[in-house]
Amino acid sequence: MIEVRNLSKSFGSNIVLDNVDLNIENGQTMCIIGKSGCGKSVLLKHIVGLLAADSGTVKVDGKNINQLNKSELFDLRRDIGYVFQGAALFDSYTVFENVVIGLLEHGVKDKQILRSEAERCLSAVGLLPDKSEVSEDEFLRAWDILSNKKPSDLSGGMRKRVGVARALVGSPKYIFYDEPTTGLDPVTSEQIDFLISDIAKKVKVTSLVITHDMFSVFLIANKVAMLNNGKVQFYGTPDQLRQSDDPVVKEFLERYN
Ligand SMILES: Nc1ncnc2c1ncn2[C@@H]1O[C@H](COP(=O)(O)OP(=O)(O)OP(=O)(O)O)[C@@H](O)[C@H]1O
Ligand SMILES: [Mg+2]
Repeated sequence: MIEVRNLSKSFGSNIVLDNVDLNIENGQTMCIIGKSGCGKSVLLKHIVGLLAADSGTVKVDGKNINQLNKSELFDLRRDIGYVFQGAALFDSYTVFENVVIGLLEHGVKDKQILRSEAERCLSAVGLLPDKSEVSEDEFLRAWDILSNKKPSDLSGGMRKRVGVARALVGSPKYIFYDEPTTGLDPVTSEQIDFLISDIAKKVKVTSLVITHDMFSVFLIANKVAMLNNGKVQFYGTPDQLRQSDDPVVKEFLERYN
């Protein structure tokens, strides 16, 4: 479980997080919503230890992120898959290399392991057929076509899927998605939403999804947290969100629905 306590972060005079408290229980799919620039990505970066807090704590499975040394943090990151805002694939790398980059960074060199993990994760996101459902030849053909492609050869939706496949490598306990549907058309967005729900169910990960897309929220979330002026303005279920009397919440819903 992830426990955020009294987390504060400013950049110069810009107070971004102001005593934020948030629990993300295992098995949940939590959506984090809020206006552009309200600190959603900054919050996520604290949870993975990419940013250090001014004060307050973040604990992942009881471990205080700020107190871990580099190698402990490196190990903990294995438990967390991160789908960066805008997919963030390496343009000069192939799809295969992009998917297994985390394993390469962790020193895995065994080609068989790299290949089978890439196959598994690319199948899980629907970019490759299920190995058990097609002939070996068919699978091999699909693999050859996809794995050697560069990100520039892919559509926006496919790039997001590659980003999700990369996050699935190593079977993490947590997956964080930073605006996974932004920039996609409504049909492709919905496919990515279904993918997120599907992964949450099938591999029982705890998911944290930053999104502007209220359609996504009501489709995938069991909990919602809304950030506003550095605080958690709302925390509850999607139903409670819909019924909220809070004017800030209502205004947000009207604007983004
Ligand atoms: N490394 C940084 N240095 C200085 N300011 C930063 C840094 N990272 C973020 N900020 C500022 O912190 C605030 C929150 O940024 P953040 O990226 O978390 O917003 P967001 O809620 O994710 O917005 P969006 O929905 O547009 O992605 C912004 O004002 C941003 O300019
Ligand atoms: Mg952001």
